Amino acid sequence: MSDGFCLITGGCGYIGSHTVYELIKKKRKVIVVDNLINSSQKNIKNIQKHTNSKIIFHKLDIRNENQLSLIFKKYKKIDSVIHLAGLKSVNDSNKNPLDYFENNIGGTITLLRVMNRFRCHKIVFSSSATVYSENQLPPYSENSALGYKNPYALTKLTIERMLNDLSKSHKTWKICILRYFNPVGSNTDGIIGEESINPTNLFPIIAMVILEKKKTLNIFGNDYPSKDGTAIRDYIHVEDLARGHINALSHLNKSRYSIFNLGTENGHTVLEIVKVFEKILLKKIPIKIVNRREGDVASSFSDCSKARRTLKWKVRKSLFDMCKDTLKWHNIVSK
Ligand code: UD1
Repeated sequence: MSDGFCLITGGCGYIGSHTVYELIKKKRKVIVVDNLINSSQKNIKNIQKHTNSKIIFHKLDIRNENQLSLIFKKYKKIDSVIHLAGLKSVNDSNKNPLDYFENNIGGTITLLRVMNRFRCHKIVFSSSATVYSENQLPPYSENSALGYKNPYALTKLTIERMLNDLSKSHKTWKICILRYFNPVGSNTDGIIGEESINPTNLFPIIAMVILEKKKTLNIFGNDYPSKDGTAIRDYIHVEDLARGHINALSHLNKSRYSIFNLGTENGHTVLEIVKVFEKILLKKIPIKIVNRREGDVASSFSDCSKARRTLKWKVRKSLFDMCKDTLKWHNIVSK
């Protein structure tokens, strides 16, 4: 194992903080950078307190080449990067595409330039199942057809292609792309979790309904081709996803360019999720069936045989754990 630092961009965010926690548990030396526009230092502080460790943190935007260079200069031995910094709302990306191109694509170009200047050539990049074309049936494997329907997805796809070209340009680059399915839940200790003020994703919205901050859960469509008519997704516990990054880091030594799906390979409908929450809480969650949400697909789930085989990674958490840990984080059940 390396004794240098691993730099985590966007390390204060939902997936970032869970990844930092896994790295700290593995005794890796980490540096977190984050511009905090969509996250707070709270998660990192909680990890420090809980593990009695010191996490180096710098508030900066990766588009700021000078500031980023100073970090590489100061800590000298940064030998790998896990790149999670970026904007992630599909809706917002339709309204403000230039922000997405500038932050996600522009930010990545700056990061790669600085890495190259400081001879740091190992990177794990956070991509998404959103890069798969909808004109095919799941399960999606890494070889499934690609496509995009919104600027957010286009940024992920573009960065993947840039990284592919970069890997061909010089053999020192070692690149691993992780395509996440639907990350949910929070770490089992209940010390870190998703901090969203205006959530649009299913799990945090269900938590709001349970907490009576929202009257009902609007279910977007019950006329999809599934057993109960609601849409199917591959929900993965964020802790399993975070562990995948550790395996990916090790894999960088073996391959110049690789792509892995991270999911559970199981699809669940919205109503199935609601039922699991109800079973844990022993009470009904008020729901209302409304129109389909624009841009939603009927079904998305993964084939992760490549990650199981090559990364020796497999999920440990069940759907029950995902729901239970979401409730723990929101203090609905005890930690
Ligand atoms: C969304 C994004 C995706 C992103 C992912 C991150 C869209 C169209 N897609 O995926 O690009 O990578 O989040 O986690 O925004 N649902 C309801 N009621 C709600 C909320 C959600 O019925 O109030 C349903 C949705 O229709 C969907 C499922 O729950 O079928 C999951 O939704 P969500 O958590 O938003 O994830 P995705 O839409 O899969």
